[in-house]
Amino acid sequence: MLRDDFVWGVATSSYQIEGKDDKIPQGECVWDTFIKKEGSIFGGHNADVACDELHQYKKDIPMMANLGIKAYRFSLNWARILPNGVGEVNEEGIKYYRDVLKLLNKHNIKPYITLFHWEYPQVLFDKGGWLNPDCVEWFGEYAKVVAENFSDLCTDFFTINEPQCVIYLGHTMGIHAPGVKMPIRETLQMAHNLLKCHGMAVKMLRRYSKTDIKIGYAPTCGVAYPATDDSKDVEVARRVYFGFENPLENWGWNVSWFLDPVVFGKYPEEGIEKFKDYLPKISEEQMKKDLELINQPIDFIGQNIYNGYEVRAVDDGKDGKYFEYVDRYVGFPKTSIQWPITPRAFYYGIKFLSEKYKLPLYITENGMACHDNISYDGKVHDPNRITFLDSYISAMQQASDDGANIVGYFLWSIIDNFEWANGFDERFGLVYIDYRNQKRIVKDSGFWYKKVIETNGKCL
Ligand code: NOJ
Repeated sequence: MLRDDFVWGVATSSYQIEGKDDKIPQGECVWDTFIKKEGSIFGGHNADVACDELHQYKKDIPMMANLGIKAYRFSLNWARILPNGVGEVNEEGIKYYRDVLKLLNKHNIKPYITLFHWEYPQVLFDKGGWLNPDCVEWFGEYAKVVAENFSDLCTDFFTINEPQCVIYLGHTMGIHAPGVKMPIRETLQMAHNLLKCHGMAVKMLRRYSKTDIKIGYAPTCGVAYPATDDSKDVEVARRVYFGFENPLENWGWNVSWFLDPVVFGKYPEEGIEKFKDYLPKISEEQMKKDLELINQPIDFIGQNIYNGYEVRAVDDGKDGKYFEYVDRYVGFPKTSIQWPITPRAFYYGIKFLSEKYKLPLYITENGMACHDNISYDGKVHDPNRITFLDSYISAMQQASDDGANIVGYFLWSIIDNFEWANGFDERFGLVYIDYRNQKRIVKDSGFWYKKVIETNGKCL
């Protein structure tokens, strides 16, 4: 059973839905530059129109209300608020987001603002981005403007979405904006600065908010889950999930490195040992100060969880080997974006995170990409998505029954949208978008989710 005040929500991000309009001008962000690079986005798609949310929010918010949605996590485009990243504030940008917030409040949908969901202002990237030590002040200034302008209409904030993807996909593999491949030392430095940005944002949000606000953070990562519920396998899965088994070049795909400093004020020992040749050169005294900044008290943690990988304990433990990956059987179920369907990963991810960090936990994203289309009857039938969600939400309920402090769930996503390097090729929405005419069609899963919300999950 989930708590009575469980938060049933949906999530989006600004770049993936808003599009552009000269009347609500914005500065360029790194994605605007990246999508112009040949071959960077599936089919050469761009997000100039996307879901046209700059205008469609007037219809989409009432539509959400009709679907019974209680909460909406969405991000602000930093460069729409501060076109130069810092300095001059764009009043049209502020007005747009205030209008969105007002309409959400009017429909009793609780807003949750994400400050940063990958829309890094291009001008700041050109000055070194996350590698420039000033980036902490820049992000702090942005957070101050957010607090001053929106905290009368919104009381819940997430600082940064999926820092792992920012580092790993954007700056290691280069398949997301800004599309660069940097050495390990630089990406570790960047991650340290990014964590400081998180801390600074918490400080500034609290200092400049007009109301009593709540703040969290929304990292991600695949979950190591146990092959059986035997305690040996469970403990091994926990160790792998929070550990450092990834090859060094993929270090950015990690849970503890991005959460321990935020919640406990220190980097995990295992990581310090593994990264010792690449760690930022910071004096002990400075590191102490940095960790104090990173470790600002937060009210909850978020985690985006879509899938995981199975592991089991190895008995003989030769050469220090204590686990092995379990091969997937032929025909293992997958979503259209080729991600494995692993509700057990959801159960164990929620349980492990809740047990380790002991803070209220929101699932800040979860959902499924499907090959949706408009059927002969004019509707969009997506039984696979319903099956997926049924199994994941049931796993979440189980985790709650078993003691996890899970307080909310944001389904990704309310509408189909621009899926980054995959362009519009992947559809995650509860609502189908016909991009030729911006028509919205609620999929079967949208009506199904309404029932789940109405019954607080008891219909499952
Ligand atoms: C992670 C990201 O936060 C979001 O932007 C993306 O669309 C979904 N997951 C699906 O890939």
